Amino acid sequence: MSADDIFKEKRRAILLVAFGTSHAKARIAYANVERAVKTALPGEELRWAWTARTLLRSGEGPPRLSPQEALARLAAEGCKEVYILSLHVIPGAEWNDLAVTAAAFAGLPKGLEKVRLCGPLLYGGEATARLADLLLDTLPRQRKIDEAVVFVGHGTHHHSGVYYPALQYYLGVKDANVLVGTLEGGPSQAETLAALKASGARKVWLAPLMMVAGDHAANDLFGPAADSWQQVFAAAGLEVEPVRSGLGENPAVIELLVNNLKTLLEED
Ligand code: CO
Repeated sequence: MSADDIFKEKRRAILLVAFGTSHAKARIAYANVERAVKTALPGEELRWAWTARTLLRSGEGPPRLSPQEALARLAAEGCKEVYILSLHVIPGAEWNDLAVTAAAFAGLPKGLEKVRLCGPLLYGGEATARLADLLLDTLPRQRKIDEAVVFVGHGTHHHSGVYYPALQYYLGVKDANVLVGTLEGGPSQAETLAALKASGARKVWLAPLMMVAGDHAANDLFGPAADSWQQVFAAAGLEVEPVRSGLGENPAVIELLVNNLKTLLEED
């Protein structure tokens, strides 16, 4: 069946929801996910929404839809079931807002009958352990065991920020030199640097733990400012190897996302 047929006969659509990015290069990650979903679920109607309000009306390209706008539009087009794949890393404020929106749109008279939502990448202990394994399996091949790896997440002051130290735990039991830091909340840059020094590693591979390598990667991680992670680590005498790709450029992460979506569809 073509997308048109599934949409018309089953009245079903898939909504991909991401935070959004202002970086054209970072959209590669989103394009990767879209391509993988299309391949795994041929014929499904695919739509996008971004949760970052400030990015919806800014920048070049076509106007973006918020999850509310995307769901309202699908309902107006006669769609009855929407399956949402969230590209968020933790169940923070953004993902929880999305869950509230999904619940609010489900079962409205003459509206959508069913709105289902996948969890973010880090969602429960099992998913956290699985992501840790996946990250360890896909470390840069040239990295030697006595070299450290630091994954820097966006971080949050939301209580779901505990997922970062949780991920750190699952990584650490298998490879003590793989660390997690965050831009907001914790583990902080200072805490990560202290852990790095304690590890005794001379070289560190620095990688974003974010879906896209966008503004935060370009500035906070790898920027020229003295307080960027790369500069701070270099100033501490470490050799820094930047890994300039987001999780959405890791085929194993994409496969995991697609499997989460397939599971959601099969559960119903
Ligand atoms: Co941010």
